[in-house]
Amino acid sequence: MQESPKPLLLTSIFESLCSLRSSVNVFEVLRIVVSSERKRTQSQTGMGDLFAEVTPAVETEKLADSAFLFRRFSAESAASLVELVWQIAQVSPFRHLVTPGGYRMSVAMTNCGLAGWTSDRQGYRYAKIDPETGAAWPPMPIEFQQLAETAAERAGFPGFKPDCCLINRYEPGAKLSLHQDRDENSYQFPIVSVSLGLPAKFLFGGLVRTERPRRLRLENGDVVVWGGPSRLAFHGIDTLADGEHPLTGRYRLNLTFRKR
Ligand code: SIN
Ligand code: FE2
Repeated sequence: MQESPKPLLLTSIFESLCSLRSSVNVFEVLRIVVSSERKRTQSQTGMGDLFAEVTPAVETEKLADSAFLFRRFSAESAASLVELVWQIAQVSPFRHLVTPGGYRMSVAMTNCGLAGWTSDRQGYRYAKIDPETGAAWPPMPIEFQQLAETAAERAGFPGFKPDCCLINRYEPGAKLSLHQDRDENSYQFPIVSVSLGLPAKFLFGGLVRTERPRRLRLENGDVVVWGGPSRLAFHGIDTLADGEHPLTGRYRLNLTFRKR
């Protein structure tokens, strides 16, 4: 086993101060050394205050039975999730689907995984082949799978193995009306929904359309999971406000993991 390197500078200063047994306040000197070392690290790495910048804590908000909002759950991996989305979109581009009623959706969509959710005048369905490219959807990145599984587990659904990830791209003015996710073969698996980029107002209602939905602000890295008795809850996204996000520019991205 390798020994970890000792903080030589600190150790030797500490030792010499102790051996001097002078009236100097050892801890005050150490504080100054640590603070100058902190400044040196910041200026060398340009990474800000590494000592003070602790990972923001995940906060859980219960929305209903078996429905949770985990604030900041994927905040740390957001940049790499966004990068993976752009890579997926190189293969299966974002497109504005048409609803069975003939409306062009304001949200642009693509998918990764074994099947993708799609819509046209014939109806909503899952397709193994991307109708736009005629080829399979890009595979679901391991990072996506792990995120979906750990978030589902936190909500009380261990062992979730999604086979579809619908990727929604919202630009300012885009919205998604209240709906239920009901094109899957079974409702025993939860929905895991990850927000990236610009913030949005999420509407989370009940099992009937007429129930007044709660309005929750979703930010970059927030994850919502709903399943069990809440699996068919009505939900949607209010008209996206204009803005600029360091990771996504003028977009909000959403990953929705499901098992068909
Ligand atoms: C969806 O219901 O498919 C997306 C929800 C969201 O964008 O947060
Ligand atoms: Fe949905």
